[in-house]
Amino acid sequence: MPAKIIDGKAFAAKVRAQVAEHVSRLDKEHGITPGLAVVLVGEDPASQVYVRSKGKMTVEVGMKSVEHKLDVDTAEPDLLALIDQLNNDPSIHGILVQLPLPMHLNEDLVINAIDPAKDVDGFHISNVGLLGTGQKSMVPCTPLGCLMMLRDHHGSISGMDAVVIGRSNIVGKPMAQLLLNDSATVTIAHSRTKDLPDVVRRADIVVAAVGRPEMVPGDWIKEGATVIDVGINRVDAPEKGEGKTRLVGDCHFESCAERAGAITPVPGGVGPMTIACLLANTVTACCRANG
Ligand code: GUN
Repeated sequence: MPAKIIDGKAFAAKVRAQVAEHVSRLDKEHGITPGLAVVLVGEDPASQVYVRSKGKMTVEVGMKSVEHKLDVDTAEPDLLALIDQLNNDPSIHGILVQLPLPMHLNEDLVINAIDPAKDVDGFHISNVGLLGTGQKSMVPCTPLGCLMMLRDHHGSISGMDAVVIGRSNIVGKPMAQLLLNDSATVTIAHSRTKDLPDVVRRADIVVAAVGRPEMVPGDWIKEGATVIDVGINRVDAPEKGEGKTRLVGDCHFESCAERAGAITPVPGGVGPMTIACLLANTVTACCRANG
């Protein structure tokens, strides 16, 4: 049987509609508008696209959107001063510093300067610790979006074997933690993992988050497994014409879809869910700030 395609685009539209309804109620009943500030340092083209998209969707759900675009050579004290200003701005409930930062800036220092209550990325060390101990925290958006799709598809993932390929702080590690908190049996695989194909073949759930185009072939996938593809990789597509490109995931979609029970496409899978979860996290931060 062909795999069910998990439609992240449609799911994200539903989440955004719920967020918009919540935002409207906050305005009508309490006169509060959630505010999200996004900080971009430099001119990385992919980051610019993401930041523009975040700003547009923030406004679409009725929230306040503030964008701070800083020069690529911004000094660390100046970036920290901006974060301090946003931390103390009562109209801002969520702060996101787009990563990666230019090399001269210390990412850990910058992230940990954000008020944990406004850390809608869930990257602050306090939020990482809270998530790791199963306490209420801000949860990183991409893994949260993946978990929502898994819960929607399976109901419960308790007792299932899950493999997360990739151990980044942004996706791999928090994803593994969320799966564990939902009582899955979790393996984190990475570039040094021995017999990666065999490890993946045992999994009922595969989350691929490595950033390597189509590195997971269909014959690594257990019959009926659920495949969540976090990768968004731009590759040459000469078949579309000279100089053309296309987006592919970390999984080879066609062959994985032949064996999987369900699979997220790229584009239209995890990507839209990430921004929807960012908006949801901003509303959550706003509600917590206002009791
Ligand atoms: N760069 C790539 N993904 C993310 C993300 O989820 N948050 C931030 N701040 N930067 C990113």
